[in-house]
Amino acid sequence: MALVFIVDDEENMCKVLKFCLEEDGHEVRYFTDPIDALAKLRDLYSIASVRPRPEIIISDLKMPKMDGIVFLSELKKIDSQTPLIIMTAYASVQNAVEAMKEGAFDYILKPFEPDELKLLIKKALEHTRLIEENASLKSNSDEVDFIGSSPAIKNVLDMITSVANSKTTVLITGESGTGKELVARLIHNSSDRKKNPFIKINCAAIPDTLLESELFGHKKGAFTGATSDKIGKFELADNGTIFLDEIGDMNLNLQSKLLRIIQERQFEKVGCNKSITVDVRIIAATNQNLQKMITEGAFREDLYYRLNVFPIKIPPLRERKEDILPIAEHFVKEFNCEFKKNVLKISDEMKAFMLNYSFPGNVRELSNMIERAMILARGNEINISHFDKNDFYSSVPAEHAGESQPHTAGEAHFKSGDGEMSDASLEQIERQHIIDILKSTNWHKGRAAEILKIDRSTLYRMLKKYNITLKE
Ligand SMILES: Nc1ncnc2c1ncn2[C@@H]1O[C@H](COP(=O)(O)OP(=O)(O)OP(=O)(O)O)[C@@H](O)[C@H]1O
Ligand SMILES: [Mg+2]
Repeated sequence: MALVFIVDDEENMCKVLKFCLEEDGHEVRYFTDPIDALAKLRDLYSIASVRPRPEIIISDLKMPKMDGIVFLSELKKIDSQTPLIIMTAYASVQNAVEAMKEGAFDYILKPFEPDELKLLIKKALEHTRLIEENASLKSNSDEVDFIGSSPAIKNVLDMITSVANSKTTVLITGESGTGKELVARLIHNSSDRKKNPFIKINCAAIPDTLLESELFGHKKGAFTGATSDKIGKFELADNGTIFLDEIGDMNLNLQSKLLRIIQERQFEKVGCNKSITVDVRIIAATNQNLQKMITEGAFREDLYYRLNVFPIKIPPLRERKEDILPIAEHFVKEFNCEFKKNVLKISDEMKAFMLNYSFPGNVRELSNMIERAMILARGNEINISHFDKNDFYSSVPAEHAGESQPHTAGEAHFKSGDGEMSDASLEQIERQHIIDILKSTNWHKGRAAEILKIDRSTLYRMLKKYNITLKE
């Protein structure tokens, strides 16, 4: 059954309808002032809100403070999906027709029998269900669910809301797996550029020699192998957003070209001296410490200040433990759909484990943990037996694990084959571990990244860092 909002200046009418619809199992809230209703809706439809939104809105047409048609057009600005049913007396049926043209779902003439309204509601709910079904059949890749109610995440959401509709350059920082890409997409999706492209480029995954032509494009014949003209990502992102992921991996030469495009919004294709002007919003992300890189001469200070106009720092999951269970439950729902399962519960023991665990791989690791448990689960509960604790980087409670130290794979409790702690350096261990895993997957990077519980781009970065050439 549905959450229904009723808007009618006559309180008695609201009460009668509420009574009837509650009889049918619906949950009802009513507003005698359409302005209050709109304020409530604005609040519910802000991205930070996690409270349920109405599935149907029923509004009177003639109200002293605001006409039903105006209410409808204001509602459409907040949310264009929720069906609105207009109630009207016979005399103003012409207005009801007008309302339909403006996008009302249907109208009902007063006085009416409760059953008539109940039927309309059923029709509207069915309509929404079909739309949702259709949407999920299409790719829902640009749908973004950003879960979390910790003060830290609320703060991130507030920042997203305030920066989304400007062209301000945003720099997102945070450990691997904290949700940097998700935040970048959320900024784009909440902006007035959302209908235009969101183009992502992973600066770590593309060899330095190709990155320039990926970003700016090239003319046919510009270099060996350039057999045709290529449009670069900046041009593709015109009027939209470009997401420069792993910006810390860009070499100094390209950094200066990027600086120019930020300053002048102009660039040239490789092998061509005609300038191209674009209107692009830039979002960059990194899990590296750019300030440290500046002192080491590896990152341009002037570029840093150009990118860091609006910094968003996403804290690691272990510093916002109240988000762990809501995010875990969100993944359970997602995997229920994906694996056609019906897991309803995470056992208390597993919850306790998760709350005590330091999640060096952050949300991505939590997702892997739930995914694996769901694959193994047979009933409708996942519990501690559905995952091997030793599989996780560290089962040391975060309180004892040196919270301020960023963890990387293999950092905690790495043991050599015979069970003795190795006295090799952490980096040596990490390098060897990566090579071992790559060997075990026959150098399949995707599989290796999965086993290491890092994403491909992190793996690429590590390969670069440790100078591992494929087929060592
Ligand atoms: N708050 C959140 N709510 C729901 N899902 C989340 C949240 N944060 C992260 N995720 C999910 O966790 C995974 C990792 O997030 P994402 O790829 O955005 O991290 P990242 O910071 O870009 O990591 P990396 O530095 O390794 O590239 C994704 O599947 C993302 O959808
Ligand atoms: Mg990322």
